Amino acid sequence: MIKVGIVGGTGYTGVELLRLLAQHPQAEVAVITSRSEAGVAVADMYPNLRGHYDGLAFSVPDSKTLAACDVVFFATPHGVAHALAGELLAAGTKVIDLSADFRLQDAVEWGKWYGQPHGAPELLKDAVYGLPEVNREKIRQAQLIAVPGCYPTATQLGFLPLLEAGLADPSRLIADCKSGVSGAGRGAAVGSLFCEAGESMKAYAVKGHRHLPEISQGLRQAAGKDIGLTFVPHLTPMIRGIHATLYATVADTSVDLQALFEKRYANEPFVDVMPAGSHPETRSVRGANVCRIAVHRPQGGDLVVVLSVIDNLVKGASGQAVQNLNILFGLDERMGLSHAGLLP
Ligand SMILES: NC(=O)c1ccc[n+]([C@@H]2O[C@H](COP(=O)([O-])OP(=O)(O)OC[C@H]3O[C@@H](n4cnc5c(N)ncnc54)[C@H](OP(=O)(O)O)[C@@H]3O)[C@@H](O)[C@H]2O)c1
Repeated sequence: MIKVGIVGGTGYTGVELLRLLAQHPQAEVAVITSRSEAGVAVADMYPNLRGHYDGLAFSVPDSKTLAACDVVFFATPHGVAHALAGELLAAGTKVIDLSADFRLQDAVEWGKWYGQPHGAPELLKDAVYGLPEVNREKIRQAQLIAVPGCYPTATQLGFLPLLEAGLADPSRLIADCKSGVSGAGRGAAVGSLFCEAGESMKAYAVKGHRHLPEISQGLRQAAGKDIGLTFVPHLTPMIRGIHATLYATVADTSVDLQALFEKRYANEPFVDVMPAGSHPETRSVRGANVCRIAVHRPQGGDLVVVLSVIDNLVKGASGQAVQNLNILFGLDERMGLSHAGLLP
């Protein structure tokens, strides 16, 4: 059994890790931290987990206890993994970080977007960006994985086939993305209140969102050159889900885009290219580690529209983190992740 520690077990990605790992035949959660809920039994905080984690209670993060695990997930705000990851890695514990701490390769750029200096730039050279559809081989050898963000996962998976094939004009990419409210985490915030977020929809951070440099880094790598991206996130009145509507222009309109996407993801267990003309729905991936994609070229023109949906807490965070765990430990990548979405 793989001995797992989770730092930040009371947040939405933390409890989603617990839900997924409860079904994982090779992983055992040995340590789960929360400073505010230390001493509280996991099942008392999250009754959906009753019967799965008997005897497990939240504890204050302690590096010695965590270092006794084979792998530690960080489901914490940015900055926390910076402070603790080095010590764990030195002790031989693998780290899978769900926060943004190690996603950007450029520490100065990170500091610019996150408003504080990067806390562990010396670890960046060893950090692997945990998007299996791009970095599977690197993930196998990694000690430190940076799990991609939710918007970045939906957006990159949608654009990758076009950019890798050199088909899209990389200088004018548009990502129009919608997220459910759980994307903002469990912490109390007025904007996340039911009466504020319900029955309404709004764009935010049009000037520049923290996920912009992360998405740009991945798309630049896929295109092999600089890219120009306009990324506009929106908050929508649903609990889970990301819907990315992606626009790119192509010079060659004779290419069979459906075949291109199907071929790119033919061997990917968690990317589902839908039949031509489809409109994927966020509810079809609720609770599932799946990115569902459809590609369109309206009126046969040179503008391609890609629709990409994920559950922000699963393929956009904790499910992808477990997928990385499976790759890292040489297990079947689908282990504990093969359930279908919750519908209706
Ligand atoms: N929500 C999403 O859809 C989503 C998707 C992808 C990635 N992410 C990223 O995943 C991370 C966690 O997100 P979340 O939505 O689960 O957050 P959250 O609901 O706000 O939970 C944060 C967790 O971290 C713990 N924590 C906070 N400060 C800490 C500190 N200084 N040291 C140790 N533990 C600390 C909290 O527990 P205590 O304060 O009790 O210790 C809590 O359990 C974030 O970096 C977020 O950007 C989130």
